[in-house]
Amino acid sequence: MTDNGLSGKKAIVTGASSGIGYATALELARWGAAVVISGRRGDRLDNLAREIAAQGGRALAVAGDASVEADIDRLFDAALAWADGGAGVDILVANAGRGLAGGILDSDASRWREVYEINVLGTTHLLRRAARYMVQRKGGDIVVIGSVVGRNVSPFSGYYGSSKFAIGAVAEGLRREVCPHGVRVALVMPGVVLSEFQDVAGYNAENFGNAIAHFGKLLEPLAIAEGIRWLLTLPPHVNVSEIMIRPTGQHYP
Ligand SMILES: NC(=O)c1ccc[n+]([C@@H]2O[C@H](COP(=O)([O-])OP(=O)(O)OC[C@H]3O[C@@H](n4cnc5c(N)ncnc54)[C@H](OP(=O)(O)O)[C@@H]3O)[C@@H](O)[C@H]2O)c1
Repeated sequence: MTDNGLSGKKAIVTGASSGIGYATALELARWGAAVVISGRRGDRLDNLAREIAAQGGRALAVAGDASVEADIDRLFDAALAWADGGAGVDILVANAGRGLAGGILDSDASRWREVYEINVLGTTHLLRRAARYMVQRKGGDIVVIGSVVGRNVSPFSGYYGSSKFAIGAVAEGLRREVCPHGVRVALVMPGVVLSEFQDVAGYNAENFGNAIAHFGKLLEPLAIAEGIRWLLTLPPHVNVSEIMIRPTGQHYP
């Protein structure tokens, strides 16, 4: 790997065992960052760490649950303590999350609490932990993965979308608090990206596939990873605070 602009920086990427987080960890490592990768599936993280090392990058795997405050604190502490990755924590990509098929009428209510515990409560705990640290340090980057359904109410995932509305509001509220201290906050809102997300959410042809059938070619996780890398490599005084990345044929949401 070569020094392409993130060299000397240390980035935490949550939800790195799959999909967007996996692609983002690889992309940031390729651009010179040391990456601290997390998720519940430690075997996946270990494989990713090996892949990054084989390409000449540096990665530290810290398995844990993104909805459990003790695990989140352990992740941040481990990132701070990882001397091989360099000093401090410069970048947080808060990506771990899950979807839930269906609207308010027909989504599985037994999952409602879990969706908010991961997508909103756990994520906000991590954002606050990182932001307090970065404010003291007078610099840093926080990237929050929202969703286009966290800006436009979705006809097929209204409940999940509400959690992304919430974390989008948290991200913008945080940006207003921390920007005077040199900390950038960016909300990245993907459209439809093919990953494990659809299976975990419980999407099928009836509750999802038919609605997106005319979107054409859907996104790979790399499209989001490259967007994240782009905004992280802008000059420090430039904060792209919101970005939507959709398949070209996705007119809505
Ligand atoms: N795919 C899309 O169309 C789409 C669109 C808009 C927004 N998003 C958002 O993008 C983010 C990434 O999604 P993706 O498409 O990459 O989905 P994915 O392939 O299912 O990946 C989700 C990642 O989050 C982690 N995760 C989920 N629950 C967790 C928990 N309780 N504790 C720790 N880690 C957890 C998973 O790791 P473990 O299972 O190993 O814990 C996995 O690494 C999510 O926030 C999602 O809401 C996705």
